[in-house]
Amino acid sequence: MGLKKRTKRHFFQRSKPYNRFMNQLALWTSEVSLPAPVVNVAQIPQRSPFRYPGGKTWLVPHIRVWLNSVKKPRTFIEPFVGGGIVSLTVAFENLSDHVIMVELDKEVAALWQTILSDDNEWLAERILSFDISNETVRDELATAPATRRDMGFQTLLKNRTYHGGILAPGSGVLKYGENGKGVKSRWYAQTLAKRIRNIAHVRDRITFIEGDGIKVIKKYAAQKTAAFLIDPPYTAGKNGKRAGKRLYTHFELDHDELFRQAEKIKGQLLMTYDNADEVKEMAERQGFETGLISMMNTHHATMQELIIGHDLGWASSL
Ligand SMILES: C[S@@+](CC[C@H](N)C(=O)[O-])C[C@H]1O[C@@H](n2cnc3c(N)ncnc32)[C@H](O)[C@@H]1O
Repeated sequence: MGLKKRTKRHFFQRSKPYNRFMNQLALWTSEVSLPAPVVNVAQIPQRSPFRYPGGKTWLVPHIRVWLNSVKKPRTFIEPFVGGGIVSLTVAFENLSDHVIMVELDKEVAALWQTILSDDNEWLAERILSFDISNETVRDELATAPATRRDMGFQTLLKNRTYHGGILAPGSGVLKYGENGKGVKSRWYAQTLAKRIRNIAHVRDRITFIEGDGIKVIKKYAAQKTAAFLIDPPYTAGKNGKRAGKRLYTHFELDHDELFRQAEKIKGQLLMTYDNADEVKEMAERQGFETGLISMMNTHHATMQELIIGHDLGWASSL
């Protein structure tokens, strides 16, 4: 595969010296840093009720290519699941026998646990019967949740009415929202209830764990039939730290430890990170391959995100 072909769509590297050379080349030449064709997220089934900061809807077509290029995994594991669009896609499209989703944030966890339990229908009804206004949102969120499912509902309400879906401290309710509709601008009750009811159909294929993603990686690292998507909070390096802190309640992570544990994974592995020098260095230290994939951010600007894995051969066919 020649450089031209590779650079036409995705920039992608193999051996370490070659890596370094190509990284430099990417910085020096406009040819290789041309943006690759970008996924149109509107064409991807929206299966998650979350609008998640750092959500990976744009990665879904790449995940399909990746998982279809290997033996069907027995377990697909997402140790930092957030809004879960990739895990849900894997479950719905039967790309793996089982899915394990892991999340440390207790509010996010409460929503997933509610959706994946017998409280699924309660939640759908709660959404449909909620009469949304500035006052009702304020009153609801001023009440301490008495049960896990109440916390789950409040998480969804915050996620759909706060700026950018951000749940981290410092976030707050949309004042004007889209078309001056304020809190209503992202609260599509029918759609949300439908997505939640649809997830009930595949819930037998999903296990949710509230806890530390790195611990779960350690537990399953030796399984050759597992596939991991690792999408941690992007808090490596100074810039990353600032961005991650704004977006997530749990933004602190021992990235070196994450890379050390990821290196031990015997099954399939794909990691995504921001395209930062500190991250590339960590990946190189552990002998990973790295590549860049173009995506469009929420402001419709094309950006490049780093993908990391033991073998990114599948990415050359994208
Ligand atoms: C980049 S986001 C994941 C986004 C997700 N891939 C999506 O499409 O919505 C990272 C997530 O990791 C969670 N997190 C942070 N530290 C964690 C840890 N130690 N274990 C598990 N989850 C953690 C954050 O709360 C956040 O939801």
